[in-house]
Amino acid sequence: MTQKIRKAVFPAAGMGTRFLPATKAMPKEMLCLVDKPLIQYGVEEAVAAGCTEIIIVTGRGKSTMEDHFDSSPELEASLAAKHKTALLELARSVSKLAKITYTRQPHPLGLGHAVLMAKELVGNEPFAVLLPDDIVDATIPCMKQMVEAFNEAQAANGEMSSILGSEIVEGAAIQNYGCLDCTPDPKNPRLLTVKDLVEKPKPKDAPSQNAIIGRYILTPRIFDMLEHITPGAGGELQLTDGIKALLQHEKVYGFVYEGKRHDAGDKQGFLRATVELALKHKDLGPAFRTWLKSYPL
Ligand code: UTP
Repeated sequence: MTQKIRKAVFPAAGMGTRFLPATKAMPKEMLCLVDKPLIQYGVEEAVAAGCTEIIIVTGRGKSTMEDHFDSSPELEASLAAKHKTALLELARSVSKLAKITYTRQPHPLGLGHAVLMAKELVGNEPFAVLLPDDIVDATIPCMKQMVEAFNEAQAANGEMSSILGSEIVEGAAIQNYGCLDCTPDPKNPRLLTVKDLVEKPKPKDAPSQNAIIGRYILTPRIFDMLEHITPGAGGELQLTDGIKALLQHEKVYGFVYEGKRHDAGDKQGFLRATVELALKHKDLGPAFRTWLKSYPL
């Protein structure tokens, strides 16, 4: 029986220290990029990929995310009374995006631990994981490309395999990422057979320039792996250690998506994403472009 990707997990319980002081009392995932919070970009991408159930892993001080995706009766009543139909539709559309459930990570014990918190809600099926601070600007949404690759690999192999979103990074930048030791598929160079993962390698030791980005499709066996690996530095359970363990049992692929990723969890990346996405915004873009051109740099 072929398995479909119906559920998407969003780890969102981290502390967002790179974005202090903005994230002292506000979740990083709720930082507004142009006109919507970071996490909404990811949720829209998952929905565009066919996911119907969204699971957000939250923690202390993150409740604004729940309010954001909930209906807002007072706001809606006020907009309706003023006949602001377009704004009313906009407000309503956010709460209708998908079925969203929440689970808590009591302490930020690492990305692997956050994913493990979703075990009961995911159950025994393959699922997507999207890190909300990786914003991928792509004609075909990144997760949709990955779901297609997952389906094709499943049809070809007769079994499901995990797929790790990947991009090629320049030179020494690989030392900031998880790196794939991999070989490209002869028929599809975007699909990579993964032999091993190396966390933040020194450039001279990097087995490739293929970095792992914040998009994953994982088989449910990952939960078993995460339950049995030993925590690394700071008591954190690393997702990459779980995936390394998974490699002992089943095939894992990398997938080089088409598009451009912004690390919006970092101040510099966030600023660049703001300018690029603002320029592309259908309502705001033209006037913003004119203003930017006249800006005395
Ligand atoms: P990051 O490392 O980018 O987030 O994790 P962080 O830890 O919040 O950020 P910094 O490094 O301190 O600035 C990627 C995603 O994983 C979540 C984060 O919320 C973020 O969306 N995460 C991370 C968890 O849910 N739990 C954790 O224990 C760690």
